[in-house]
Amino acid sequence: MKVLIVGGTGHIGSYLVPRLVMEGHQVAVVARTPKPQYAEELLAWAQVEWVVADRRAEEGSGVWEGRMRGLEAEAVVDLICFTPAQNELMVAAFKGRISHFLHCGTIWAYGPTERAPYEEHFPRRPIGEYGIKKAEIEVQLQQAWQRQGFPATLIHPGHICGRKWLPIDPQGGRDGVGIYQKLAQGEQVFLPDTGLATLHHVHADDLAQLFCLALRHRQQSLGESFSGVAPYAMSLLGCCRLVAGLFGREPNIELVPLAELRERVGEAAFGTIESHVLNSPCSSIEKGRRLLGYAPRYTTEQIFVECLEYLLESGQLVL
Ligand SMILES: NC(=O)c1ccc[n+]([C@@H]2O[C@H](COP(=O)([O-])OP(=O)(O)OC[C@H]3O[C@@H](n4cnc5c(N)ncnc54)[C@H](OP(=O)(O)O)[C@@H]3O)[C@@H](O)[C@H]2O)c1
Repeated sequence: MKVLIVGGTGHIGSYLVPRLVMEGHQVAVVARTPKPQYAEELLAWAQVEWVVADRRAEEGSGVWEGRMRGLEAEAVVDLICFTPAQNELMVAAFKGRISHFLHCGTIWAYGPTERAPYEEHFPRRPIGEYGIKKAEIEVQLQQAWQRQGFPATLIHPGHICGRKWLPIDPQGGRDGVGIYQKLAQGEQVFLPDTGLATLHHVHADDLAQLFCLALRHRQQSLGESFSGVAPYAMSLLGCCRLVAGLFGREPNIELVPLAELRERVGEAAFGTIESHVLNSPCSSIEKGRRLLGYAPRYTTEQIFVECLEYLLESGQLVL
């Protein structure tokens, strides 16, 4: 089958493209630079057909929809769509021409966890523009499926990570190696409130697995949404204990009210931590497992182990 991946050289694409090529699919990738950004090796990429284009620029100049209409594929995977207007163009361009359209959403479309684990059919109550727009796209695609038979499937990833892309860290932020260094050396780490806010990671290879399974089990995935996450979520405290334990230590945690964390970590880091604390995601993979056979290989613990191995091997984490 010919699969077109829009935005296929990033975190997800770096694992998804080789998986599809190895399954025998013909793969075309849209990106501004025709080169995978995180792939370990380039072998499977030799067969990729490149469509070099700047989506944002072409959407602005009105060229994008025409470009999409000119491309032939049986399935389309849109990894970089963030607004209903962008999605509308894709539906218009591919309506009646493809057998499957997969959109990459986010668990931020779900909103703060009220029932855990969150199942895909629970109500959406997103906070923040990013999640709200992704939830609107989901409604748009489900209506397109119900009213016009547009063959859409949505995959909602958790916090994506891969060998060269660090997970959201055990403090709920993206502080490079800082938190790992502190946990490894027994230094103090500030956690918000009780430290029990949750993170729900996913390894990009497991996400790639889920996209491939959705394509393979088309009938079961049409019109459906699936959470692309690790088998279970973990609390910040649990993540800190895990990482410190890998270095033979107990974590040295000081709990501070969320609002006070801003002063301790700085404005930029605080924004990332706050959004993870407020959402505290915890999603179920039961539907993906039941309908598609989704079986993630990575728990959050294994994700942190892989990340720490990489940081140590590459000399970024020095103890
Ligand atoms: N990051 C997370 O933790 C997370 C969590 C949940 C959901 N998501 C969802 O995951 C998706 C992003 O996937 P990802 O993490 O694999 O993305 P990524 O690593 O940021 O890669 C983006 C891809 O899109 C291409 N691209 C970016 N801007 C482009 C443009 N203007 N025109 C054409 N190509 C462009 C990039 O290649 P070039 O730079 O060469 O153009 C690259 O192939 C989004 O839908 C996001 O909402 C992400």
